[in-house]
Amino acid sequence: MKKLSIAIDGPAGAGKSSVSKILAARLGYAYLDTGAMYRAVTYEALERKLTDDDAIADMAAKLDMEVIPKEDTMHVIVDGKDVTPFIRTPEVSSHVSAVSAIAGVRSAMTAIQRKLGEKGGIVLDGRDIGTTVLPHADVKIFLTASVHTRAIRRFKELTEGHPDMTMEDVEKEISRRDYLDSHREISPLKQADDAVLLDNGDLTLEGTAEAIIAICRKKFPDFA
Ligand code: CDP
Ligand code: CDP
Repeated sequence: MKKLSIAIDGPAGAGKSSVSKILAARLGYAYLDTGAMYRAVTYEALERKLTDDDAIADMAAKLDMEVIPKEDTMHVIVDGKDVTPFIRTPEVSSHVSAVSAIAGVRSAMTAIQRKLGEKGGIVLDGRDIGTTVLPHADVKIFLTASVHTRAIRRFKELTEGHPDMTMEDVEKEISRRDYLDSHREISPLKQADDAVLLDNGDLTLEGTAEAIIAICRKKFPDFA
């Protein structure tokens, strides 16, 4: 059985990265968190105090970015520095949708992602994997859950480092990002025509991974 490319798209808090890690570990596949790449570009733009779209696109095109998948998380190295610990702050989260809407940023990141994804034996998570990065991915999943469920999940994670944030703040921020990501001009967050919709509001992470394996088996009977 050939090693598949599995695309998992969907909104924030759907469980994409957690489930992708479970799948990659179980299948012995690589895992690419494409959101971490957009977050790293956003972090660099904030560090360099760049606000102009052209300047940010220029920076993204020249960025020396290396992605290193590890079991616990995917590390992103920019110009030799591991920026992973700094890319999930509320500040980066609030700017990432604007940065990732810039055409030059998307083309630079998509080129790296496609190169890694085309080899197969990989799980990629993002917003546009099934529609743009790998339109011929072997299996495409659109993973989602209600905004409220996703906000509860994120709230649990965030309040450890940011006790001042309320559940209402988190739900508003997630809704804002859902809106921006699905209404941008280039490669918006959208279910690919041939993706399988999976609402995991009532599923655990393990249950979600099992459901995705079942979807893979349905399409490729000798899979795993
Ligand atoms: O982890 P979370 O779902 O909060 O977000 P993420 O996957 O880290 O993605 C952060 C942001 O990057 C998203 O809100 C999108 O604006 C952008 N993104 C994108 O435009 N295309 C992708 N393939 C992945 C992420
Ligand atoms: O990558 P994405 O933003 O789609 O979601 P995630 O970061 O993998 O998941 C967000 C949080 O929801 C994590 O703390 C997961 O453990 C949790 N989660 C859950 O408890 N049950 C699910 N079925 C999916 C996610």
